[in-house]
Amino acid sequence: MSVVLKDKTFEVFLSKEQIQRRVLELGRKIAVDFQGKDVIVIGVLNGCFMFFADLCRAIEMPMVTTFIKVSSYQGTKSTEKVKTIFGLSENIEGKKVLIVEDIVDTGFSMKELLAQLKPMNPESISIATLLFKPEAFRFNYAVDYVGFEIPNKFVVGYGLDYDGLGRNLPEIYQLRNS
Ligand code: IMP
Ligand code: MG
Repeated sequence: MSVVLKDKTFEVFLSKEQIQRRVLELGRKIAVDFQGKDVIVIGVLNGCFMFFADLCRAIEMPMVTTFIKVSSYQGTKSTEKVKTIFGLSENIEGKKVLIVEDIVDTGFSMKELLAQLKPMNPESISIATLLFKPEAFRFNYAVDYVGFEIPNKFVVGYGLDYDGLGRNLPEIYQLRNS
């Protein structure tokens, strides 16, 4: 099955069933690892929204859930994007933080996020991402929970977008080779 979004065609890459099965596994693993701990699960909007909703339902234990947004703006000196967190109203000091992302690609966004959360003195910070592109990853911090390692190709669906489109697709699609 394929979908067309604007000028691009995408082919199904991960089915609803594959995603749901893997998300359940991740949720159960996380529940075992964090059982009895003071956990705050932070979803990074917008991309995380579907994964976050399914993952949190699969983590069967009491926990605080919240969202942040990361805004990027052009730095003054270079073209490197500087990212700022907003929307975090909870105090994370002394808590075990689990960041939930849709995708870790180069890893730059997550690196920036970690750098801003660390000074807030959480007990620990772990990362759960549905998708991880090992060939694109440029850093060496641990990505603790990975749904799927995928090739370095653009994907959409299940929260991920192409120019704002495609987030509502229940499957994950990969850009067709042209
Ligand atoms: P980073 O390269 O790890 O910093 O990823 C930055 C952001 O780019 C991610 O949080 C996504 O929002 C977006 N992104 C990276 N790869 C893809 C993709 O294949 N599809 C859709 N968005 C992507
Ligand atoms: Mg994202």
